[in-house]
Amino acid sequence: MEYRRLGRSGLKVSELSLGSWVTFGKQVDEKEAMALMSLAYDEGINFFDNAEGYEAGASEALMGAALEKLGWGRDSYAVSSKVFWGGDKPTQRGLSRKHVTDACHAALKRLRVDYLDLYFCHRPDADTPIEETVRAMHNLITQGKVLYWGTSEWSAQQITEAWAVARELGLTPPTMEQPEYNLFRRDKVESEFLPLYELTGLGTTIFSPLASGVLTGKYNDGIPKDSRMTLSGYEWLKKRWESPDGIDKLEKIRQLASLAAEVGMPLNRLALLWCLHNPHVSTVILGASKKAQLADNLAALDSKDKLTDDVIEKIEKIVDNKPALAERF
Ligand SMILES: NC(=O)c1ccc[n+]([C@@H]2O[C@H](COP(=O)([O-])OP(=O)(O)OC[C@H]3O[C@@H](n4cnc5c(N)ncnc54)[C@H](OP(=O)(O)O)[C@@H]3O)[C@@H](O)[C@H]2O)c1
Repeated sequence: MEYRRLGRSGLKVSELSLGSWVTFGKQVDEKEAMALMSLAYDEGINFFDNAEGYEAGASEALMGAALEKLGWGRDSYAVSSKVFWGGDKPTQRGLSRKHVTDACHAALKRLRVDYLDLYFCHRPDADTPIEETVRAMHNLITQGKVLYWGTSEWSAQQITEAWAVARELGLTPPTMEQPEYNLFRRDKVESEFLPLYELTGLGTTIFSPLASGVLTGKYNDGIPKDSRMTLSGYEWLKKRWESPDGIDKLEKIRQLASLAAEVGMPLNRLALLWCLHNPHVSTVILGASKKAQLADNLAALDSKDKLTDDVIEKIEKIVDNKPALAERF
């Protein structure tokens, strides 16, 4: 496992990390959560991602119980929460000073920690002035309850605004953004955010590197039972991949799977290594409903040398979606 700086901050995060969306509290119980987290930690993962909105807090409660039982030194790992979707009442959602503060306190209790290493605004909130959110985050940082704050699925414009407001008022600017990034979602990380890496020192904790599992190739011949697309509440995902656009992408995934086989690794590993190849990615957040999946994904790190320029070129030809303004590296 290698470690990368979270943008321009001094925090070194493992290049692969582990998240709990969909899995913890829905597919995975406490025993399985502990097994996943133990494997991750033993293999060098030092960042665990969570959010108040995941299974209405049950995901954080499960991770908190696991963290307590695992008993790792608090200085040996980083854990996150995200604020936005805390409940149905007007005061329980969005990025007001009140909800940002309440959600932090609730996450600390559920996760059973004294501070959050990373705290994300899960989405932008058009109903709250940016200065109010930046100030709320800054206050939590000065109180020692949060170490680094950031955003998720914000536009470059919104991140720049938050950064500029913080600079102007002497407050703590955002350190990182959590965007989706995979072979089919590239624009933000490779193009839109380009000026921010230099200007603000933005780090990225990227999510859904396997596009919810589709980039393992396991949906190539239909929907396997026990997979994410069969879960209640995730009908939208199934619909997305049954659309004409989804069917077109599945054809590309079949070609990518053949290329991966040619190169000598399964597609999931090729897709993960492709994300890691981008130096603006601080960490790739993995998701896994089973320990064997996590082990298989971690094994990608043993094949880094197989992702040669020639293979990357072949991947580009198949996906044919490189953003026009993207940097070459
Ligand atoms: N900020 C945000 O808005 C946001 C949004 C989404 C995710 N995230 C974060 O990013 C993390 C990762 O996202 P993600 O779960 O969507 O990642 P992903 O890697 O795209 O999908 C993970 C899922 O794919 C399947 N899978 C993974 N490895 C596999 C393998 N080797 N073989 C077969 N199936 C495999 C599993 O689902 P099944 O077994 O159920 O099929 C697994 O739960 C989340 O846990 C969360 O922390 C953040």
